[in-house]
Amino acid sequence: MKVIKSTKQMQSACLALKKSGQTIGFIPTMGALHHGHLSLIRKARQENDLVAVSIFVNPRQFGPREDLKKYPRPRAEDLALCRKSAVDLVFNPDKSGLYPQNFKTNVYVEELSQLLCGLSRPEHFRGVTTVVAKLFNLIQPDSAYFGQKDAQQAVIIKRMAEDLNFPVKIKVLPIVRENDGLAMSSRNIYLNKNQRQDALVLNKALGLARLLIAGGQKDSAKIMAKMRVLIGKKKTAKIDYLAIVDMIDLKPVKKIRKHCLVALAVKIGKTRLIDNIII
Ligand code: PAJ
Repeated sequence: MKVIKSTKQMQSACLALKKSGQTIGFIPTMGALHHGHLSLIRKARQENDLVAVSIFVNPRQFGPREDLKKYPRPRAEDLALCRKSAVDLVFNPDKSGLYPQNFKTNVYVEELSQLLCGLSRPEHFRGVTTVVAKLFNLIQPDSAYFGQKDAQQAVIIKRMAEDLNFPVKIKVLPIVRENDGLAMSSRNIYLNKNQRQDALVLNKALGLARLLIAGGQKDSAKIMAKMRVLIGKKKTAKIDYLAIVDMIDLKPVKKIRKHCLVALAVKIGKTRLIDNIII
């Protein structure tokens, strides 16, 4: 496994590999790797000649009061997991390598970036699409792998790749959960014991929505009202948003139908968690 820090070196290594006719599967990450990330790596391993993983805590997607400084950075463990998962290339740039002093360009997907998580994190998706566009240009992957855990991110990246004609297939894989149902996240380590227990309410609320829908309830407002009551029972939980939206344009859906997404963001103490299910 090669670990590359320099942007130029990464670009020339990938170019040479592409010229030799090998396919590259790419997984962008911010590190603190867990089984969610590893599921993406595993799929990429099955489908490509080479697997590239980037590990970069991207400052441009964090708001001024967010957790950039304390975001976990267990690099030795991350690299060991990549090695164990037969990754070929790890790109681990530093901030100045990816964003030199005169950096001025952004990639921004309109409308979609302002909804759901975009309401409370107005700069977030601009940071995500800018860094992912740069990584696509550097690595030129044949396929790139994202998790359904960040459903809105996946929708926005698909839109960007299509709108800007990136020659890459975007693949979105299911959410990997802990045994008790909590969606795996690098941020779960912020939770204390009580909060960790309360955090289960996200998945439970989604389970309730699934149950109501299976029982024939089609009115989104009624479903969300019941979810709110359930979440409201947890003292440490504060809803950021709760929404039932179309899977392509992320606009609210009033009557349940195929291809909609039940998505929520809930603060458990100071930790903001997200989760979703596809109907
Ligand atoms: P990060 O949070 O590290 O996640 C990297 C990828 O892993 C994302 O596609 C995310 O959806 C996926 N992932 C995280 N938890 C998952 C889970 N429980 N099950 C399945 N997949 C999961 O998302 C980012 O980093 C950044 O925004 C990035 C795209 C790297 C741009 O900086």
